[in-house]
Amino acid sequence: METSNSSIEAIQKAIADHRFKSEFLANLSQLVPLLNERDASRKIECLRSFLQSSVVEHFALEEKTVFPLMLSANSIQSKLVTTELVARLQADHVFLLGEATKLQARMAQPDLTSNPAALRELEQSFREFFGFIQRHAGEEDKWLHPLLAQVVSRHSRS
Ligand SMILES: [Fe+2]
Ligand SMILES: [Fe+2]
Repeated sequence: METSNSSIEAIQKAIADHRFKSEFLANLSQLVPLLNERDASRKIECLRSFLQSSVVEHFALEEKTVFPLMLSANSIQSKLVTTELVARLQADHVFLLGEATKLQARMAQPDLTSNPAALRELEQSFREFFGFIQRHAGEEDKWLHPLLAQVVSRHSRS
C-alpha cells in the first residue's frame, strides 16, 4: 500500500505525542512519592489528567493511526514480526486501560485526600502503573518507532 501524505503526517503527530507524553510520565513519576495530605488534591488532579491524556487519548491516537498503518504498509519488516508487535502493543493497551480505570475509581473515593492510608495505597498503585507504562513506552521506542521511521523515510524518498 502507498503511504499517503496524510498518513505520514498522522505518524509524525503520533510520534511527537508519544515523546511529549513520555516526558510528562518521567516528570510525573517523581511527583508520586510525595503524595501526602497537604497537597494531595493538586497532585491527584495532575495524575487524573495524565491518565486521560497519556493513556486514554494517546492510546486511541496510536490505535487509530499508527497500528492500522503498520499492518497495511508494504513489508518494512516481515509481516509476521509486524503483526506480532502490533498485537503485543495492543494487548498492553487493553491491560493498561483496565488498570487506568481502576486508578480512576480509586481517585474518586470520597475523603481520599484526608485518608493517609488510602493515599499510601494509591501511591503504591501508581508506582506499579508507572512501571508498566514505562515498559510499554520502552517497547514502542525500541521496536515500533524504528519501523515508523522507515515508513517516513521511504515516503520522503519516493
Ligand atoms: Fe506511545
Ligand atoms: Fe502505546
